[in-house]
Amino acid sequence: MLKIALVAWLWTLAGTGSVQARPLDAGPSSGEAVPWWRDAVIYEVYPRSFGDTDGDGVGDLNGITEHLDDIRDLGVDAVWITPMYPSPQVDFGYDISDYTAVDPQYGTLADFDRLLAEAGNRGLRVLLDMVMNHTSDQHAWFRESAGSRTNPKADWYVWSDGLPASADNLSRQQRNNEHEGRVPPNNWISSFGGSAWEWVPARKQFYFHHFYKEQPDLNWRNPEVERAMFDAIRFWLDRGVAGFRLDVITTTYEDAALRDAPESGRLNAQGDPVQDIVHIDNLPEAHALVARLRKMVDAYPGDRVLVGETYLPNLQALADWYTGEPGPQLHLPMNMFPGFSGGKYEARHFRRTLEEAETRLPGTPLYAYDNHDNPRSIDRFGDGVHDVQIAKGLAAVLLMPRGAALTYYGAPLGMRTTTPARKEDVRDPIGITGWPKEKGRDGSRTPMQWSPAPQAGFSTNPETWLPIPPDYRTLNLQTQLKDPESLQNWWRTLLRLRKAEPVMKDGRTEMLDRENPDVLSFRRTGVAAAPDVVVAINMSGRAQTVDLDAGQATTLAATDPATPGAVSLRRLRLAPFATWIGRRQSLD
Ligand code: NOJ
Repeated sequence: MLKIALVAWLWTLAGTGSVQARPLDAGPSSGEAVPWWRDAVIYEVYPRSFGDTDGDGVGDLNGITEHLDDIRDLGVDAVWITPMYPSPQVDFGYDISDYTAVDPQYGTLADFDRLLAEAGNRGLRVLLDMVMNHTSDQHAWFRESAGSRTNPKADWYVWSDGLPASADNLSRQQRNNEHEGRVPPNNWISSFGGSAWEWVPARKQFYFHHFYKEQPDLNWRNPEVERAMFDAIRFWLDRGVAGFRLDVITTTYEDAALRDAPESGRLNAQGDPVQDIVHIDNLPEAHALVARLRKMVDAYPGDRVLVGETYLPNLQALADWYTGEPGPQLHLPMNMFPGFSGGKYEARHFRRTLEEAETRLPGTPLYAYDNHDNPRSIDRFGDGVHDVQIAKGLAAVLLMPRGAALTYYGAPLGMRTTTPARKEDVRDPIGITGWPKEKGRDGSRTPMQWSPAPQAGFSTNPETWLPIPPDYRTLNLQTQLKDPESLQNWWRTLLRLRKAEPVMKDGRTEMLDRENPDVLSFRRTGVAAAPDVVVAINMSGRAQTVDLDAGQATTLAATDPATPGAVSLRRLRLAPFATWIGRRQSLD
């Protein structure tokens, strides 16, 4: 009872900003039993690189608002904005110094409210990025915590006295990190290079940082941390955000005994030993935390959603993030196996990973092929010759199976990865510490290519925070919209089809022609009175004729303009690297 009253009260508060955000339960799928996110396409925006309205060469919130029509016209359902909170920007926003405000570089809270309201007016939902694992070292919580061993926040981060430097079996990272006769308590290394422990003279202790030293890990074993973070999450839910993408949500807790990480004997690009992060990843306590968060979020109206950044060792670990012990957790943990497990553009890879997702996950699969941390998919899967055809096939692999999908600005255009050529041009600190083996993530974060205008229509400032790739003159949204064969128009067609064909909402994904090494084919099926939709993607450079089923199909979309409007599924012809999508005609 108390909970219901509290939620109602918070909901009233939500409307007190200068711009009234539309309640989300009045959103596009209002009144339907199926939550909106079950078949949603979510578009990731990296705010620094989307639209710069104040001419400082860095994108801002108003730049996102300005382009909401473009996002809506593509046909997606929601926007996920990577962190736009105040931050020293050491990790470009993933080092948050205040969880309930907007970085002045990106605008104001009023700008955010306007963005939210304008998105709602267009039927678009807004997801924020929530970084629960760590804060910035400039966050007031950490500054206080680091000041002494006795302050009220002394136990808000993961502090350790370490070991005497004379201890046995120390790793190189430990030995190289000696302070006043002490070394870190274990061999853990930071994902971003070097020891994961940093000495603070004022406390004569080390703190743990899974990422940069400017990103200290919070101590989630302290209930005050949970209260403070949940308050911050409610702040945004009360304003009307549709949910969160939870950054590195699987690593919130560390092994209580801080045991050493097992090492493989190999070295990574930073020159550190490759470690198994088993003592910081997927701990039962992390699952329990997300289960508590899920309860809080589910109490809000409007089907708010928790999307998880879940790079995991195997499918069972992914399944556990839906509803393992102790009950429901993430609505949409990201399935990284098709897109980010090193698989090539090969039918077998996608058949196996899509089928596993369809049959072995206890919830809606969420697929992703692009994000701000990896080279763009067109470069990872492309062969350098048929890249646009391959990108069209990848779009079908992303958008046609049952489930939700994540995409990233620039991907529907086929924007390329533009890696800095010189160390002095690198902005991402991983690229600075890891150069030349690890060149960092700048390559997939370059400004959005809107038009052939100066600075690609991104900014009026010739000095943008990352340079505009020179191909913007031909590779940009404006130019692609005029070309019916462009990747952008292909995406629009597929996204329209996703909405128009009734089987696309819930119909299961069933693989066809299962032994074919060159052609991935599947159908969406199982919805009464809704015709199946069949998808065939030739992932080879040879023309193929496949036998998928009896009967005829009406072509809905085809990359080969010579494809007839009606085809026989017994003898479906596919040009090299062609993608074809059709509606099965009824057999009677
Ligand atoms: C994952 C984010 O996607 C990445 O950009 C960031 O550097 C790390 N988490 C640390 O927050």
